Amino acid sequence: MHRGRSAMTCLYRCGNACAHPAPNTSPNRYFGEVLAEGISRRGALRGAGALVLGLTATGVAGSAGTAAASPAQASPVAHGLTFRPVAPTRQDAVIVPEGYSHSVVAAWGDPVLPDAPPLDLTNLTGEAQAKQFGYNNDYVAVLPLPGTEDRALLVCNHEYTNPELMFPAFTNHDELTEDEVRSTVEASGMSVVEIERVGRTGQWRLVRTGPRRHNRRVTRFTTRFAVTGPAAGHPLLRTAEDPRGRTVWGTLANCAGGVTPWGTVLSGEENFNFCFSNGVQAPAELHPSLARYGVDVTSPMTTRGWSRVDERLDLSLHPNEVHRFGWIVEIDPYDPQSTPRKHTALGRIKHEGATITVAPDGRVVAYMGDDDRFEYIYKFVSDGVHDPSTSARARAHNRTLLESGSLYAAEFSASSPGEIDGSGTLPSDGAFNGRGRWIPLVQDGKSRVGGMSLEEVLVYTRIAADRAGATKMDRPEDVETSPVTGKVYASLTNNTRRGAVGYAPVDEANPRISNKHGHVLEITEDGGDHTSETFGWTLPIVCGDPADPSTYFMGYDKEQVSPISSPDNLTFDKAGNLWIATDSTYALDANDGLYATPVEGPDAGHVRKFLSAPVGAEVCGPYLSDDGRTVFAAMQHPGEVDGSSFERPGSTWPDGGLPRPGVVCAWRPDGRPAGN
Ligand code: FEO
Ligand code: CA
Repeated sequence: MHRGRSAMTCLYRCGNACAHPAPNTSPNRYFGEVLAEGISRRGALRGAGALVLGLTATGVAGSAGTAAASPAQASPVAHGLTFRPVAPTRQDAVIVPEGYSHSVVAAWGDPVLPDAPPLDLTNLTGEAQAKQFGYNNDYVAVLPLPGTEDRALLVCNHEYTNPELMFPAFTNHDELTEDEVRSTVEASGMSVVEIERVGRTGQWRLVRTGPRRHNRRVTRFTTRFAVTGPAAGHPLLRTAEDPRGRTVWGTLANCAGGVTPWGTVLSGEENFNFCFSNGVQAPAELHPSLARYGVDVTSPMTTRGWSRVDERLDLSLHPNEVHRFGWIVEIDPYDPQSTPRKHTALGRIKHEGATITVAPDGRVVAYMGDDDRFEYIYKFVSDGVHDPSTSARARAHNRTLLESGSLYAAEFSASSPGEIDGSGTLPSDGAFNGRGRWIPLVQDGKSRVGGMSLEEVLVYTRIAADRAGATKMDRPEDVETSPVTGKVYASLTNNTRRGAVGYAPVDEANPRISNKHGHVLEITEDGGDHTSETFGWTLPIVCGDPADPSTYFMGYDKEQVSPISSPDNLTFDKAGNLWIATDSTYALDANDGLYATPVEGPDAGHVRKFLSAPVGAEVCGPYLSDDGRTVFAAMQHPGEVDGSSFERPGSTWPDGGLPRPGVVCAWRPDGRPAGN
């Protein structure tokens, strides 16, 4: 059985996107010199520090005490990462470092609502699934429940389903019953569940008894959203069901997200295009914009077959329904009766997620990636100012902050192009770096894009960014801000079309032809102000097998670095270490994983694998508990490998039977913080 990325992944998550032309064919300009394939790295390694860290990486705290005079020795204390890296493996299991334990917190089919029936693999129904934990958990957030240290809320996205692992003898959706199709719809969306600490450790588990009054499923058929912002009510959002264009049933293809400073959760609607059918019969005037968002306008395309049970997803009947997805949505997990919202002010793209930072003047800034080949990085700056108090009035005010503001797309240029000699070598400081600017798409409540109204910029944000001349990136995924330095980090997961005939050439911010393994980009806003319209940038990590000369790990000794491919979801711990979850489409002969690395100091770039996922799974989340003792991570699509089926699954995680996507926690039984 082939262990690489499954054709099923390609089909059900992103509609075989790699087999199709990238949807961004806009002619906006590229910058920089075309570089030769591959880049070689030069510059001195920080070797002495690497040696000491190699010793401390045994996981034996204090074992490097004999090298007390070395400045590098102090760094493990400063950044707190001393775990022994997990070796690359194809083992069908979750593997964490020596000295750690792990367990499943919640998995597909677990009860969410108190009256949820047990998971019945012989009878999957929409009604049952809408009460159970959904499939293919992606974003993970853990929020405290006031008044207790032993209860918390786990909030998850459920991005898509793997029908070949859900239904016996599955061949295509047309052969499923309507209720089976409905179960795949309702297995998507979001879950909010109460979890409880086990003993006094860093272990958490699902609360399975009692009222569980916060528990909630958010699904297409059960949850109505309000639309906010300038595009709410616009004719492009009006449908027969919603002639005012202000309410939408459900949320689709929820990928990553973020927790706001006011305690709500944001979720990105990503590959929503594959939930729709019959683009070929949509009104012809919509075909260009549909194609720009990846909707197939050449065939009836029913990848998921959902329009069989939800006519609104048939573009020939309800063409505007597609405009009601592709937004950042916000839910209040503390109030299961609250109406979640879709924020048009943050633009409509294939949103990976959104993470919020408060600028020095109190405005809030959302950084966002559009996950497709050659798409853009965006940021939103609120008009209003964050109120840090915890009063009900402040909370109500803060909940309006994402309803109006400025929207920008990023343009990257080289600060010192003279140093790039075109031979593929790096500047003498060891890394590509440059300058950039945030190009306004919306500002002062007005469109800044010629020929497009404010509402059109927000509904067709990709087209607006094309016209504005934003820089085409290698699939922007998570964008996160370091809580220690304020620097912003973006995952650019991979893009094998980079440099191919007919596509954008390499540039300094996307420097590898046929970029299989991706890279991490660092942005430093000018003046340390997240509302700045200019910034500096560098590429701290260029992923792959460290033996590959085109890789780069902040100059760290590559012999100490874990192989890593396709960075996807990011998070930071309180010490400012970057945690990177991977989705290795072009795997390095090892399962996906969760990695951690300092990004400052002498150990910056010392990437180490903290967790190895089951066969076929990518790692999502991740999320570190506030007390630092628990690492939460989602195992998405275990068993998703070529040839995998209900009868012969490629993984049997976690129960030894049919694979079930699930969220795990990892902790140290000795109570020490995770990473140590
Ligand atoms: Fe759903 Fe961009 O990963
Ligand atoms: Ca992702």
